[in-house]
Amino acid sequence: MTLSPSPSISSETQPTVSPDNTRPAAASPTSAPEPPPTPPAGGTPAPLTPSTLRTIVRELAERPEEWIHHVRLSTEERWYRRLAADDDHEVWLISWLPGQSTGFHDHGGSRGAFAVALGELEELSLGGPEQGLLIRRIPAGTARAFGPEYVHDVRNTAVGPAVTLHAYSPPLSSMAHYDLRAGGLVRTSEEGPEQW
Ligand SMILES: [Fe+2]
Repeated sequence: MTLSPSPSISSETQPTVSPDNTRPAAASPTSAPEPPPTPPAGGTPAPLTPSTLRTIVRELAERPEEWIHHVRLSTEERWYRRLAADDDHEVWLISWLPGQSTGFHDHGGSRGAFAVALGELEELSLGGPEQGLLIRRIPAGTARAFGPEYVHDVRNTAVGPAVTLHAYSPPLSSMAHYDLRAGGLVRTSEEGPEQW
């Protein structure tokens, strides 16, 4: 599969969701009691922030006893396994042999984060008009987080295998793939959970 639970955006990336700072108007002495908060439509939980997802993968990467026994390596493609799935997020474990990569992809509107537990990866993304193509080295012990619109290409260009932990919120529902051409990223295909 081409699933890329490849998270990415940097540790410095700010969440794209912000807390609701709206304060209710002060109640007058004759006001009725405040009604309880209205749950989200359809009972869908609010997505976790990129910052929270980064904390999840960073802390999990530091507890290899919880996942190291699951790790496999595949010469066919990146190996992956979902470790946990909840209503508001899911966690994936992925291994990367040298040369394996995701290609440019989005995350179907999910926020995400990933931590490199073993080895080292390289991440490509498009910056602003003045930045062009950005290439980042992501060594073991570091994590990146990203918002719902993020597109990147993650690859293992090192000489040894890598192992990563990924978290997405909401859980991944689709992923689109892109080609990087002279004019920018061009969407080429889309996949869903049935292909994972
Ligand atoms: Fe990704």
